Amino acid sequence: MNILIIGANSAIAKATARIYAAQKNKLFLIARNDEQLGALVEDLKIRGAQSVGSTSLDLTRHKEHEQAIEKAAGFLENIDLALICHGSLPDQAKAEIDFKLAQQEINVNGLSVISLLTLLSARLKQQGNGTIAVISSVAGDRGRQPNFVYGAAKSMVSTYLQGLRGMLFQHNVHVVDIRPGLVDSPMTAQLKKGLLWSSPETIAAKIVSSIKAGKHTVYAPGYWRAIMFIVNGIPEFIFKRLKF
Ligand SMILES: NC(=O)c1ccc[n+]([C@@H]2O[C@H](COP(=O)([O-])OP(=O)(O)OC[C@H]3O[C@@H](n4cnc5c(N)ncnc54)[C@H](OP(=O)(O)O)[C@@H]3O)[C@@H](O)[C@H]2O)c1
Repeated sequence: MNILIIGANSAIAKATARIYAAQKNKLFLIARNDEQLGALVEDLKIRGAQSVGSTSLDLTRHKEHEQAIEKAAGFLENIDLALICHGSLPDQAKAEIDFKLAQQEINVNGLSVISLLTLLSARLKQQGNGTIAVISSVAGDRGRQPNFVYGAAKSMVSTYLQGLRGMLFQHNVHVVDIRPGLVDSPMTAQLKKGLLWSSPETIAAKIVSSIKAGKHTVYAPGYWRAIMFIVNGIPEFIFKRLKF
């Protein structure tokens, strides 16, 4: 497969890229930190990737998305899979009183993804095949007090993906929405870990198997589907009192 990974320096993306490299796929990586990206390219070559290309980009620079996707397509030719992984977890307390910060976070987690999806959907539609997969979050399922700025951006992405899936279905392009629960990665380094936490490797294995199986909405690990079913069922008059 020819695979484009965006936000490739993320812990979940790296773990996923390692699986795809071991399967001898051809990879193109887009990420912000050039030094880390260079090290990842070398690591993936050693792990067996057929070939690895890359370009560095701060993904909030929407105007530069087209050029980066063009570069990826030039390297990969047919994009069989595009996986979007970047994101940031804002300080909710600060973001709810500072619109500039909220806007910045919605830009990273929401609008930058939609800009990329606009370009990728046009390209894959033209190809007439391929899969677009995006890491959103269980945080997008319901607006909770501790993370509703982040959750609102992820929810925007999930809603967009639902419509996009229908639009691309007739063009033989598949769309996957991956919703991890709690993952021990640099993004959550400051949070106390407990029983419900998973490793990036666990999430990566679930991403790879779900894409292969042609799933639509993937909770990772799967028990988050049951957890969010319960959370979504809590009546609003109780939910508004909950601080979790
Ligand atoms: N960790 C969790 O509990 C959890 C739960 C649900 C969903 N997710 C989602 O999973 C995805 C991967 O996160 P992770 O857990 O693997 O965390 P991570 O290791 O902290 O990765 C986040 C990545 O996003 C990149 N990024 C942030 N802003 C960017 C920008 N403007 N331009 C380019 N890249 C940017 C970061 O780049 P730098 O390396 O340059 O900082 C970093 O590599 C994210 O979409 C996240 O929202 C995570």
